[in-house]
Amino acid sequence: MSKLPKDFLWGGAVAAHQLEGGWNAGGKGPSVADIMTVGAIGQPREITETVEAGKYYPNHEAIDFYHRYKEDVALFAEMGLKAFRTSINWTRIFPKGDEAEPNEEGLQFYDDLFDELLKHDIEPVITLTHFEMPLHLTHEYGGFRNRKVIDFFVKFAEVVFNRYKDKVKYWMTFNEINNMMDYTNPIFLWTNVGVQVKEGENPKEVMYTTAHNVLLASAKAVAIGKEINPDFEIGAMVSHIPIYPINSDPKNVMLAEESMRLRYFFPDVQVNGYYPNYALKEFEREGLNIQMKDGDVDILANGTVDYLGFSYYMSNAVDINSGQGEDEEANVHGKIPYQVDNPYLSASDWGWTIDPIGLRYVLNRLWDRYQVPLFIVENGFGAVDTVEEDGSIHDPERINYLKGHIEELIKAVDYDGVELMGYTPWGIIDLVSFTTGEMKKRYGMIYVDRDNEGNGTLDRSKKDSFEWYKKVIATNGEDL
Ligand code: BG6
Repeated sequence: MSKLPKDFLWGGAVAAHQLEGGWNAGGKGPSVADIMTVGAIGQPREITETVEAGKYYPNHEAIDFYHRYKEDVALFAEMGLKAFRTSINWTRIFPKGDEAEPNEEGLQFYDDLFDELLKHDIEPVITLTHFEMPLHLTHEYGGFRNRKVIDFFVKFAEVVFNRYKDKVKYWMTFNEINNMMDYTNPIFLWTNVGVQVKEGENPKEVMYTTAHNVLLASAKAVAIGKEINPDFEIGAMVSHIPIYPINSDPKNVMLAEESMRLRYFFPDVQVNGYYPNYALKEFEREGLNIQMKDGDVDILANGTVDYLGFSYYMSNAVDINSGQGEDEEANVHGKIPYQVDNPYLSASDWGWTIDPIGLRYVLNRLWDRYQVPLFIVENGFGAVDTVEEDGSIHDPERINYLKGHIEELIKAVDYDGVELMGYTPWGIIDLVSFTTGEMKKRYGMIYVDRDNEGNGTLDRSKKDSFEWYKKVIATNGEDL
């Protein structure tokens, strides 16, 4: 007998801007993702002011899901997916973000996509925004640092909740809402909230002020969604990378505990409906002026989420003796303060540690802390794939990675008693990498013929992991 519930949502996850393409088709306006160039490891993606001639923007065509979704959905159905997680490209619905009326052609695209999924008994799991805010809202209003943008987001949410209320049950508000806690790397504030820190500003103050606005936007959207359809399940979505102490030195244990607030701050507010004391103390201690208004407290309290969705790819470790404290130059982008390598773990070619047990650990910690259902909405292995002469693609490392993580999630459910709604591994079909913009960092079980420069036929083919995952789903996780 399967150790997982029989309605467990086995699925696959993507984001509109990373696979749709059609960046200016059907009335779509430019989003924050459309002005990000291609990058690589050690070469950050450039955020240009507008679309500049002679630069390559990989999200513009991506894998052309916009035109090929029927073929792709047929493949998902063949794999046996029960759920498909994607986002609604905000600028298909409101091209600039501040229009009075939505763009019907954009709304129709998602009607057609959801119908196609439902025809195959695949449940859509929808993120309202996954790094796709309208570029106009950043240029004109400064992104979410401006409270007016809350209303534009809430209007967008209301329109799509109403339109798809009979087609979509599972929603999430902001993808990886907590990425912006790393304000040392400009990509995160930009993609999360359309904000760039100006010279002379206190970046932490900007981040928390913006975070407050985004938390209000999320809470308002949840409240409206529940009014529109009380059966909606609306979740938060965070990136969850656990932070371990490098050893049992109590100083490191406490350091890791404190560092974990980078991961807990957003869900603490979204699940509990109020600011945790450690954050209020931090604002006070550091003299941060976070602009809050009367009534905000009620908005947060009235918009708590039904479940917690999260991504899990890797774990981090910290050491008080690392020489990489918060204020030291040695602390580089993409690393948290005091981060060190964990000698017990290997890593992918992109330096992401491989830690399946960490997933069980995280499931337990989140369940104990929040007591709301959890949903693993991203997990996966980004790697280079080789197409053999006969067209086959062998990806044993990916299968191993996924197998290891599924084994651990089963223990969390079956042994530890964690309530888990489902598992939608990331990039079920190859797509544009978020952090580097590359195509060669592939996660898919379906291969797409496309390279980092935009060459290729865009043809789809199955990797070995395709048949493997199909069997996993068919046996509800019994045959790994
Ligand atoms: C998450 C994002 O951070 O990780 C996805 O929600 C992203 O958008 C995924 O693609 C993997 O990251 P990357 O940089 O390897 O594409």
